[in-house]
Amino acid sequence: MDIYYATRDGHTRRIASHIGARLSELGVDARLRDLAAGLPAAAELAASSLVVVIAAVRYGRHLPDAERLLAVYRTLPAPPRLVLLSINLTARKPGKDTAQGNAYLRKLIARYGLAPAFAAAIAGRLDYPLYGWFDRQMIRFIMLLTGGPTDPRAQVEYTAWPRVDDIAGRIALLHSTDLSP
Ligand SMILES: Cc1cc2nc3c(=O)[nH]c(=O)nc-3n(C[C@H](O)[C@H](O)[C@H](O)COP(=O)(O)O)c2cc1C
Repeated sequence: MDIYYATRDGHTRRIASHIGARLSELGVDARLRDLAAGLPAAAELAASSLVVVIAAVRYGRHLPDAERLLAVYRTLPAPPRLVLLSINLTARKPGKDTAQGNAYLRKLIARYGLAPAFAAAIAGRLDYPLYGWFDRQMIRFIMLLTGGPTDPRAQVEYTAWPRVDDIAGRIALLHSTDLSP
């Protein structure tokens, strides 16, 4: 199984590593691949037993590397099963952490005509001190509109790690059913 991730500020990498570690505890071998290091060839993607894509959202879209990977995936004649995980701040709200309830994820699935075996949105991290002036002001404004923190010193990790563990468990289960005759 391959876990491809696209991150800008590193939080998605932490989630991907956490899932990788959990899978390893469950006896499942998963290769972690940072998409910033390059896209896999179509043949490599097709040879995977299960493709997991974990991508952060910025300004309404998943990071371009993740979209590029899905564009390759969609051309595969016999694609391996797909797990899609979207990392964003909207997912901190009840009901916005599912494939149906999260607009970014819903649109991504529709745009590439995907049929993931499992898809979910996971709440990411807010870290104003890390952002440049423009991004900080933009995110503060979005937070003002959506009832989140606007204090420019705020650093909040919304990720529910027990849920990430549950998701890793689901991935392990998918992997094992994949291998069964
Ligand atoms: C410049 C910027 C734009 C963002 N845009 C969105 C957005 O449109 N919707 C959203 O829900 N979260 C948005 N986020 C929140 C990120 O998805 C969240 O911080 C995530 O944890 C970032 O992952 P990364 O550290 O792997 O890059 C944005 C964050 C930044 C810094």
